[in-house]
Amino acid sequence: MTHRPTIDTVAVIGTGVIGRSWALLFARAGCAAVLHDRDPAQASRARAWVADSLVDEVESGSLTSADAAASLGRVSIAGSLGSAVKRAGYVQESAPEYLEIKRELYAALDEQAAPETILGSSTSTFDMSRISAGLAGAHRCVVAHPVNPPHQLPAVEVLGGGATDPAVVTRTAAFMASIGQVPVVLDRFVPGFVLNRLQFALVREAIHLVESGVASVEAVDAVVRDGLGLRWALMGPFGVADTNADGGIRQYYTGHEQLVMDLMNDLGPTPSIDARLIEQLGEGVDAMTAMASRAEMRRWRDRMIRKLRALKAGDPAPLTTPEHAPSFTERA
Ligand SMILES: NC(=O)c1ccc[n+]([C@@H]2O[C@H](COP(=O)([O-])OP(=O)(O)OC[C@H]3O[C@@H](n4cnc5c(N)ncnc54)[C@H](O)[C@@H]3O)[C@@H](O)[C@H]2O)c1
Repeated sequence: MTHRPTIDTVAVIGTGVIGRSWALLFARAGCAAVLHDRDPAQASRARAWVADSLVDEVESGSLTSADAAASLGRVSIAGSLGSAVKRAGYVQESAPEYLEIKRELYAALDEQAAPETILGSSTSTFDMSRISAGLAGAHRCVVAHPVNPPHQLPAVEVLGGGATDPAVVTRTAAFMASIGQVPVVLDRFVPGFVLNRLQFALVREAIHLVESGVASVEAVDAVVRDGLGLRWALMGPFGVADTNADGGIRQYYTGHEQLVMDLMNDLGPTPSIDARLIEQLGEGVDAMTAMASRAEMRRWRDRMIRKLRALKAGDPAPLTTPEHAPSFTERA
């Protein structure tokens, strides 16, 4: 259930693929979202993208036109970083994934945002300890790593750096829960966090299977799309194992330990991602999606994710309340 946001005003710094999606999510949840991009034309494009996406959501029946209009009314653009963060209780930084860009931006944010404002980063790979090193406000800096696109996919990995105040991690997780996201708090930094480690473990083997001539791009995608992925929308690898044997996960892994380990040891090595490989994958994908444009595919993806989430909400998984997804109602 979505609660009233625990933070009213959010600054979205960097409004590319991820920033614009955060902007839509924050505004739809009831926050004022102030956008700022180094390129002012990009911030305008991002707001126009939010407007178009809201129209799609109205057309597919997941939002009323009044709610869409109110959401768009909450999205504004600020010409400077200082004016963007002036009233923000939370900042979501979504600038490009280069450590120097993040470090410079964080230095400016720490200087210009009010002392109690949380400085969250969408970084996919960096340790917050490195981004915020040496800053007076390192205690209020935190990673809030989304899954693309965050306005459709609720999981968000939340973790601090060495100097982050644990209360900032808790408040960030509470804020994410209050806008309908599923915060997953990590106990410590590891490159790629959980999401990209799992994702690229699978991608490595997917590429290996294509490169070594076992299966086409389309065949590999079909096994995930119409097999593994349908289950994964409902449960993770451990939940799947638990339902794969009548005696649950213990039985599933007992008796076949060696088979499973032999298979793991047989998985492919890290591929050389070079121009030849990229072209091979590109041709495979072109053949698979020749009937639709990328924009149509994305709209279809987003529409289907909304339907899946509505289905899941109507018949929720019989799980104990996960510790990482608390339902906070108090306001920060
Ligand atoms: N794309 C993904 O799938 C994905 C998923 C999760 C997290 N992320 C993370 O989100 C962040 C943004 O990724 P993206 O894919 O949206 O990148 P992007 O290139 O689409 O957008 C980055 C935006 O930041 C702007 N920018 C650059 N320097 C800036 C500055 N100093 N101040 C303000 N704006 C600035 C650029 O003009 C651009 O509009 C990265 O840290 C990335 O790792 C990306």
